[in-house]
Amino acid sequence: MNRFYVTTPIYYVNAEPHIGHAYTTIVADVMNRFHKLMGFTTFFLTGTDEHGDKIAQAAQAAGIEPKAYVDRMSGIFRQTWPKLNIENDKFIRTTDSEHVKVVQYVLQKVFDAGEIYFSAYKGLYCVGCERFYAERELVDGKCPDHDRPPVEREEANYFFRMSKYQDWLIGHLEANPGCIRPERYRNEVVSFLREPLEDLCISRPVERLAWGIPLPFDKNYVTYVWFDALINYLSAIDYPDGELYRDLWPVVQHFIGKDILKPHGIYWPAMLKAAGISMYRHLNVHGYWRTDEGKMSKSHGTVVRPLDLAPLYGLDAFRYFLLREMAFGLDANFSEEALVQRINADLANDLGNLFSRTLAMTARYFDEKTPPFGSEPDSMDIALREKTEDTISQYREEIPRLGFHKALTAVWECIGAANKYIDYVAPWNLAKDARLFPRLQTVMRTLLEVNKVVGVLVCPFMPSTSAKMLERLGVEKKTADLRLAEDTVWGSLKEGTRVIKGESLFPRVETDKAKEKKKMEVPASPAPEAPVIDMEVFRQVDLRVGLIKKAEKVPKSEKLVKLIVDIGEERQIVAGIAKTHPPETLVGRQVVLVANLKPVKLMGIESHGMILAAVDGQELRLVVPEGNVTPGGKIS
Ligand code: MSP
Repeated sequence: MNRFYVTTPIYYVNAEPHIGHAYTTIVADVMNRFHKLMGFTTFFLTGTDEHGDKIAQAAQAAGIEPKAYVDRMSGIFRQTWPKLNIENDKFIRTTDSEHVKVVQYVLQKVFDAGEIYFSAYKGLYCVGCERFYAERELVDGKCPDHDRPPVEREEANYFFRMSKYQDWLIGHLEANPGCIRPERYRNEVVSFLREPLEDLCISRPVERLAWGIPLPFDKNYVTYVWFDALINYLSAIDYPDGELYRDLWPVVQHFIGKDILKPHGIYWPAMLKAAGISMYRHLNVHGYWRTDEGKMSKSHGTVVRPLDLAPLYGLDAFRYFLLREMAFGLDANFSEEALVQRINADLANDLGNLFSRTLAMTARYFDEKTPPFGSEPDSMDIALREKTEDTISQYREEIPRLGFHKALTAVWECIGAANKYIDYVAPWNLAKDARLFPRLQTVMRTLLEVNKVVGVLVCPFMPSTSAKMLERLGVEKKTADLRLAEDTVWGSLKEGTRVIKGESLFPRVETDKAKEKKKMEVPASPAPEAPVIDMEVFRQVDLRVGLIKKAEKVPKSEKLVKLIVDIGEERQIVAGIAKTHPPETLVGRQVVLVANLKPVKLMGIESHGMILAAVDGQELRLVVPEGNVTPGGKIS
């Protein structure tokens, strides 16, 4: 059985969840949902890191006991994730008694193996990082992460012989180049490893910090933060004897931000090796979101944190933005403007339009039922199908190697191709001619199939949107049961299935700027909305020169006039030109008309054609041939 196990860092509870925590957790959720879609049995772990100086200090500042404080803060994290459509299988807390037991078990094991020793140590300590720093690690004498000088501290403590694992780790990273990804972070770890590694201080005397896990071999000490926190990845899956541990550990992938690369890239492998546990499969390291915390929200008029924007703009839109905007591994900027722009361009315009145009036309031309492929596909249909199938392969390749934004770009290129196809094929023209009905069936079915594939592919990123799309396409499966291999097979929709037109998937966000722009815009003549058409399509229109023989006003209508026009035969045409062209001015005039329009009834009178006129503001000007042309003369 294919299994997948993904973890996020466990977050410190001295601050509330913010965009950075949300990003890591959403990426892990996307990766997890993708693996479900691929048919894997998955396990997704997140949680909170609750011991240590910083937390104890935060509790003190809040005026409550550490336990009460961490309970409250951990609860906030736990409640945040479902609100972002995150579906973790387990939420671990370092204060869970099971976790404490496992930490003590590992400590004892490593101690018994002689890999932990007791020693006096004097050094430079950063309270923010909760660790000692070597002089050469400081930048201008300051901690590079906290931009504060460390304090000198001397105490006897327990140390883990990390230095002993340096050569083994270098060898492992050489033999498994994809272990730490993207490569820039592997290189960073490799370059750390060019300098001699220090041993790792793993304890703190109880009299200085009681808010930790007691060392099993010395009750006067509690364990140091990393030896506690990192082990969550094991305790959560019932290390050492649980079935979950046996099944999942060999396939574990950690997601972290670049700030905690060193503990995960160096301490953790050494700890695992010392405890006789195999190395993780992948460490996936992402960059940082740069934000302008506390900036005013333009559209909502209040101070918001980026995370607060999620419910305002929609969870799926928020998730899409984070995954599309950041190239995994690199830093990115978060701004409300950029979020709105993506919503309007990618979601409302591209995806939303494709979906609503497809469904509206299916409703109109096929009574809301999925048509069969009517005629044989032509080259356009085949090209769109190939594009779609190509997109599926790119998507399948990109996500496992962390190319989330590339996978989304590929999906959006496919959406773009489908929108162009609509403009080009112009189903509304096909619908005018009953002989082209089989062609119209093929065109609409092709579009429905593309929409279905898109609905499946967006599932890990936008689960609610995916569910909505598939439901409206009449797909019965729940999103949790979707399988990429089965559910993106071309032609898998069922003929005759009812589709639901419904509302637009993503309404456009009206920004102040957009509203202002609209106000300033002079109402000009409507933008030409004509799509580009084939010569072949144009040739289907039968344009003729006609001579008006009779003209009379249609009773009770201001606009309509009933005409008898000679086009080699006599035609009755009802035209909406009476306001500018009184009937008496029309007889004897030559006009240009469309001769093969489906007959319609206007005010109860049949009309077999349409007179062409140019629209000039309020005015209508008849299109006429140059000189006299024999009635019925063809226009090409
Ligand atoms: N408790 C430790 C992790 C222990 S894991 C065994 C910790 N906690 S934290 O609350 O500080 O979370 C750090 C993580 O939050 C980063 O690694 C990253 O996943 C996420 N982010 C925090 N700020 C971030 C950004 N500005 N941008 C992107 N992600 C960042 O470290």
